Amino acid sequence: MSRERFIELEGVQVRVGGKVILDDVSFYAEEGEILAVIGGSGAGKTTCLRVMTGQIRPVKGVVRVAGIDVVRNREELEPLIGYVPQLDETGLYYEFSSIENACLFARMYGIPRKEAKRRAKEILAILGLRDEELMKKPVGRLSGGERKRVSICVSLIHEPRVLLLDEPTTGLDAHLRVDVLNYLRDINKQYGVTVGIVSHDLETAEFCDRVAVLDRGRVSVFGEPRSLASKVRAGHAFTVSFSKLNESDVSKIKNVKIVTGVLQVGRKTLKIFVRRVEEPLNVLLNELERAGLTPVSVTSSSITFTDYFRIAATEKEGESYFPQNTKPV
Ligand SMILES: Nc1ncnc2c1ncn2[C@@H]1O[C@H](COP(=O)(O)OP(=O)(O)OP(=O)(O)O)[C@@H](O)[C@H]1O
Ligand SMILES: [Mg+2]
Repeated sequence: MSRERFIELEGVQVRVGGKVILDDVSFYAEEGEILAVIGGSGAGKTTCLRVMTGQIRPVKGVVRVAGIDVVRNREELEPLIGYVPQLDETGLYYEFSSIENACLFARMYGIPRKEAKRRAKEILAILGLRDEELMKKPVGRLSGGERKRVSICVSLIHEPRVLLLDEPTTGLDAHLRVDVLNYLRDINKQYGVTVGIVSHDLETAEFCDRVAVLDRGRVSVFGEPRSLASKVRAGHAFTVSFSKLNESDVSKIKNVKIVTGVLQVGRKTLKIFVRRVEEPLNVLLNELERAGLTPVSVTSSSITFTDYFRIAATEKEGESYFPQNTKPV
């Protein structure tokens, strides 16, 4: 039995000044899931989030969030959602500590100070901010990553059923991006809150239950990352580095019998997909050697949604969204 759809856009069209910004956009997440909305700059991600929060009214389509028809009953939605905007513009008070900020926001919802403090500490701990000193420091003196976590804490203080975040990992180092996504997964598990994450980073989808990819205001891919990854025609994948790599080497590799696909992941590094065979690593190394290619390193890799997307993009003409420097070969 499937659960209730808790974030849902159906046939949504948004126009601004006569220009169509979202066209026939449909996707959903069930209650308790994490949804990723991915796309390049200007694809319409923030607009999607604003449609979900009721800040933008579509000209066509249906929007349901936390069981509310957002177009008709926007005012009922507010206590049920938490929103972390794209820029640090949550209205955090920079001269106050994270706990004080949480208490101030809690007051708007009539939550007693003691309860707000307890909850803020609990949320910050799940978000990896356990240090009492850090919790007492003025928000203005925290790092970008720490401040982002305070924004997330504040958005959760009134126990929303749905948490919506616009680019929560942008501007953070690679390891911090992974940390934030893991913390959001912990928040999702602990409180059962349904989460919608907007990101320009394909890898974000790997942490989510469902993904919608937006391309110039339309949905180009929608599904569960794991089942989309299983559509990649390969049994195994290896990340393989070479001391030198030119175009003719790449075409030689593509012609190797067991190879089903190749993606460039670094200047001299490829992700090579191979058919399901016994001892795939040995077979691949033998075949590469026969083609005159000797790798300097090989590691076994999992087949991911990002792979699916990049392979699909090479097969589809007119695809406009490629993450920087990762254009498929
Ligand atoms: N108020 C507005 N008036 C005119 N055009 C707008 C308005 N808001 C958004 N747009 C246009 O709609 C498109 C989608 O904007 P949106 O902010 O949703 O993109 P995004 O995917 O969030 O981009 P980014 O990754 O840069 O944040 C862009 O082309 C943008 O210029
Ligand atoms: Mg945006």
